Amino acid sequence: MKISNFSRLVQPLIAIGLLSITHQAMATATVDVYKSPTCGCCSKWVDHMRENGFTVKTHDVGNKEIRKKSGISESLGSCHTALVNGYAIEGHVPAADIIRLLKEKPKAVGLSVPDMPHGTPGMEGSRVDPYNVLLITEPDQARKDTSIYNRYDPYSKQAEQVKPAATVDTEKNSSIMRLKP
Ligand code: CU
Ligand code: CU
Repeated sequence: MKISNFSRLVQPLIAIGLLSITHQAMATATVDVYKSPTCGCCSKWVDHMRENGFTVKTHDVGNKEIRKKSGISESLGSCHTALVNGYAIEGHVPAADIIRLLKEKPKAVGLSVPDMPHGTPGMEGSRVDPYNVLLITEPDQARKDTSIYNRYDPYSKQAEQVKPAATVDTEKNSSIMRLKP
C-alpha cells in the first residue's frame, strides 16, 4: 500500500523531469560504435546514423567484448554494438527507433535488431525482409524474453501507403498542424 501511494506521487514528477531534459539529451547525443575495421555494412549503418543527425565515434576493435559488457546476450547479437546516452544498440537498428528511445527513455538495456536482416539501414539491396526492433529490458535477456519495440514489414508498408496523405501529414508534422487556429 505504501509503495503504490509513493509511486503514484513520484511518477508524475519523474515524467515532468524527463520531458524538460529530452531536447538537451538529443542535441548532445554522441554514439560510440564498436565494429570490425573491415565490415562494410557497419560503415553504411554509421553513415545512416550521421545522416540522421547523430555524432558518431567509431572504434574498430570488434563488438563481442562490448556487447557482453553491455548486457546484450549472444542470442541478440549482430555485427556492431553502439552506446548512446546509457543505452546499448545492437545491429542495424533504424535511427528513428533510437531517436524514439532517447525521447521516451524507458528503463532498458537498449535495442537490438539481431543478425543482419536484408533491408535494414546499412543492409540495403534488392531483397527486403520483415524484421523486428527488440527492446531489451534486463541485462543478458534472452531473445525470446524481449519485447517488440517496432516492426518493419515491407508487405504491411504497402497497406500504409494507401492511407490518405492528410493522415500521414498530421502524424509526421504535428508542429505544422498546430499553426491552425
Ligand atoms: Cu551488419
Ligand atoms: Cu555492423
